[in-house]
Amino acid sequence: MHTKYTALSPELYEYLVAHRTERDPVLAELIRETEGLGPISMMQIAPEQGAFLTTLARISGARRAVEVGTFTGYSSISIARGLGPGGRLLCCDVSEEWTSVARKYFARAGVADRIDLKIAPAIETLRALPSGESLDFAFIDADKSGYRSYYEEILPRLRANGLIVFDNVLWGGSVIDPGNTNSETKAIRELNDFLPTDRRVECVMIAIADGLMLVRKRAADESA
Ligand SMILES: C[S@@+](CC[C@H](N)C(=O)[O-])C[C@H]1O[C@@H](n2cnc3c(N)ncnc32)[C@H](O)[C@@H]1O
Repeated sequence: MHTKYTALSPELYEYLVAHRTERDPVLAELIRETEGLGPISMMQIAPEQGAFLTTLARISGARRAVEVGTFTGYSSISIARGLGPGGRLLCCDVSEEWTSVARKYFARAGVADRIDLKIAPAIETLRALPSGESLDFAFIDADKSGYRSYYEEILPRLRANGLIVFDNVLWGGSVIDPGNTNSETKAIRELNDFLPTDRRVECVMIAIADGLMLVRKRAADESA
C-alpha cells in the first residue's frame, strides 16, 4: 500500500541527496572541513537543505536576505548564491571562531562581496535594522529559544510575500514527545503551534532533514 509519505532508509536518503544540482566542489570541501571540528559539525545544515535554500531564494526573487546562525557558512553560501543581481545577505552569529571558517569559504565560493557578517547576539543585530519592509528572505537556525523573538523582529521588516524559513522544527521528533519539556523543545513546539494561528502569515512544514517551516508574509489587503 502507498502512504502519502515515504519513510527514508539510509540508502534512500543517499539517493535523495545525490539527485540535486551541485555547482562546484566548494561546498563539499566545506562539509569536510566542518567535519574536522568534531561532533559540533552536526550543526551544519544538510546538503539537500542547502540546495533547497538556493532554489527558494532564487524563485522568490530575493535580493535582501538575513540569516540568523551562520556557523561555518554552508547555509549562507547556499542563500547568497540564490540572490538576484546586487543581492545582499546579512549573517548573524556570535562565534568568531566558527565564522572564520565561513569567511574563508565565502571567498572561495565567490560570494564574499554579497555577504555582511555581524558578530553579536542576533537579537541586537536585528533590532538595529531599519524598520521598513525591506527584507525579502530570512533563514533562522540559531538558539532555539530565540526563534520567536527573531521572528517578531524580522516579520515587520519583511515585504509582503517575503519568506522566513526556520530550521529544526521537528527537533529530532521530540516536538511530539509530551515527556520532553526541555527549553529548546518547548520553544520549537510553541512556535510550531503558534505559526498556523498567526494571521499575518501562511506557513507550511517541510519534512527535509530535521524539518523546515516555510512562512510567507501575507499582503496587508490579503484575505486570510
Ligand atoms: C545550527 S548552527 C548554524 C548552522 C548554519 N546555518 C550552517 O548551515 O552551517 C547555530 C549557530 O548559531 C549561533 N548562535 C547561537 N546563539 C546565537 C545568538 N544568540 N545570536 C547569534 N548567533 C547565535 C552559533 O554560534 C552557531 O554558529
